[in-house]
Amino acid sequence: MGAMSRAFRAPGRVNLIGDHTDYNEGFVLPLAIDLECRVRCVPGGDVVRLRSEELPGEVELAADGSAEPRAVAGWGRYAAGVVRALAERGRPPVGLDGVVSSSVPLGAGLSSSAALEVALALALCDAADWALPPLQLALACQAAEQEATGVPTGIMDQLASVSGVAGHALLVDCRSLDVEPVPLPPGLAVLVLHSGVERELEGTEYAERRAACEAAARRLGVAALRDASPEDVADEPRARHVVTENARVLAAAGALRADDREALGRLLFESHASLRDDYEVSTPELDALVAALEDAGALGARLTGAGFGGCVVAVADEAAAPGVLARAAEDYRARTGREPTPYTCRAVDGAGEEDA
Ligand code: GLA
Repeated sequence: MGAMSRAFRAPGRVNLIGDHTDYNEGFVLPLAIDLECRVRCVPGGDVVRLRSEELPGEVELAADGSAEPRAVAGWGRYAAGVVRALAERGRPPVGLDGVVSSSVPLGAGLSSSAALEVALALALCDAADWALPPLQLALACQAAEQEATGVPTGIMDQLASVSGVAGHALLVDCRSLDVEPVPLPPGLAVLVLHSGVERELEGTEYAERRAACEAAARRLGVAALRDASPEDVADEPRARHVVTENARVLAAAGALRADDREALGRLLFESHASLRDDYEVSTPELDALVAALEDAGALGARLTGAGFGGCVVAVADEAAAPGVLARAAEDYRARTGREPTPYTCRAVDGAGEEDA
């Protein structure tokens, strides 16, 4: 790109604990990670023209948001979703010519699409010399994701990408949308292992699970399952997951602050069991990977993100981490015949402009 080019980055995220709680106005504890999407571009014109360094297909969209996201093929539908969501919020229709590159693995549960949405949204705002406050930008990108996929996803992924703080997890209250950075204790490693089974939320039971939660809240006469008590949901596995998971998130934030690694680890294992047995979004591979990590000496491990495939997150003492990863990978291979891909993740700052 030429001298006038601009560059924006947005991180993926790994969720330490708190899955399927965001759309119940509950709590989540993700961190923005050093796997990122970058958009380099030259602003101008009235067309948004993008190509990807990794994926096929050029995208050409009217900058006024008139392109229907679901009519656009492949990854371009996320771009169309962002262009539309920003147009609806008043962005002037200025185009750009850009290149997208991303190190966030696709279909892994690490929010590759949120990273693309947020990086592109920043580029588009800049191109039009127009801005949205960070929370509004995250909400616009959530709307873009929903338009692009037709899946009623929550706010966690886009908010984590926007609000990341280096060295911190983010305790998000998904009702007030307050974000409280919680320092990760030194010497605690956050490990991410891909099960080797990709997933997209389209075609999964994500929407069905969300509808079941909303129906349970209506039955109980509460605004959202955030407001239900453990007694209210004792006999309803889906709702019980949400209520117990919210409590685990708050306890995990406390364990991080107190640097109580054993307690944190236990909460991760309990979260996995709840997602597997009560919420039923795990897979045999994710269960095998969590078991392999437990046997290999991880302090805790759980599926991360929506489930149905993708990654597991684990915590271990930094000194023990390489051994834990190696033993768990070997065990998982033996159990499933699949190759796990490890990522050691650092918590990084949220999205922003960088040197072109
Ligand atoms: C996906 C969604 C999030 C959240 C998680 C499950 O990542 O995009 O909003 O619901 O699943 O916790």
